[in-house]
Amino acid sequence: MANSKDNKNVLSAYEKASLEGIDPRCIPQKLNGPVPEDDQIVYPNYSNSEHEIWSFLFNRQMKYLPGRACNEYLDGVENLKFSPKKIPSLKDLSSVFYRTTGWKIARVPGLIDVDDFFSFLKRKIFPSTDYIRVKDELDYTPAPDLFHDMFGHMPLLTNKNFASFYQKFGEAALHAKGIDRKDLETFHWFTVEFGLIKKSEGMRIYGAGIVSSLGEVQHALSNEVEVKEFNPEIIIKQQYDVWHLQPVLFSIESFEQLEDGFMKWTHNRGML
Ligand SMILES: [Fe+2]
Repeated sequence: MANSKDNKNVLSAYEKASLEGIDPRCIPQKLNGPVPEDDQIVYPNYSNSEHEIWSFLFNRQMKYLPGRACNEYLDGVENLKFSPKKIPSLKDLSSVFYRTTGWKIARVPGLIDVDDFFSFLKRKIFPSTDYIRVKDELDYTPAPDLFHDMFGHMPLLTNKNFASFYQKFGEAALHAKGIDRKDLETFHWFTVEFGLIKKSEGMRIYGAGIVSSLGEVQHALSNEVEVKEFNPEIIIKQQYDVWHLQPVLFSIESFEQLEDGFMKWTHNRGML
């Protein structure tokens, strides 16, 4: 007969973490079957207070974004028809993706295993959560929630150039091993999550980790940040700390430059 110790051995990393007092949202889960995609995604029965959390976060970030976020991001917010009143439906957002860039959305239960994540990107599918942070975590949540996924990541995925780059990223990452994986993670951090873009009207934000964070959106364009020019070889050597405001960021000239630079670099390293 199995005792409790044996039982522990058959638990997933996710289940073990919750037994050991680690926030299980921080443990990537390996998907063990298909997840709902596009029009198969069912809209959850959100409570009024969950819709209020969305409204609060949406209104708070939108106060800062005009004049700070790039046009491509703001156009995406418009394309996706985000409303402050109600948490968007993944199914509706997926149909905008499909119309604009041919991408779709899959609903995933939380942080997922990196191989699962990259293979979604390669198939032009953005894996998104559909739960929202609780009131005590308005300023910071340790793992992705729908506000980060929808508000942070989705607007740019309605932009053809960015979406094309992100699909290549998934493809390269699936081929990458060892140090290449680690370098890609750093590259992702300084572009997709914390990227800036130089526009004729001034420096603008495109990274999901900045647009969805109150602290970062006020800090990223300030004098406290050293902005370096986009260069994959330099980016991958840059240290970062996920717990503090970022002191160094990288700026691209355009999303074409991001894709071209990424393609050349991954090609030289044999990833693409
Ligand atoms: Fe993210």
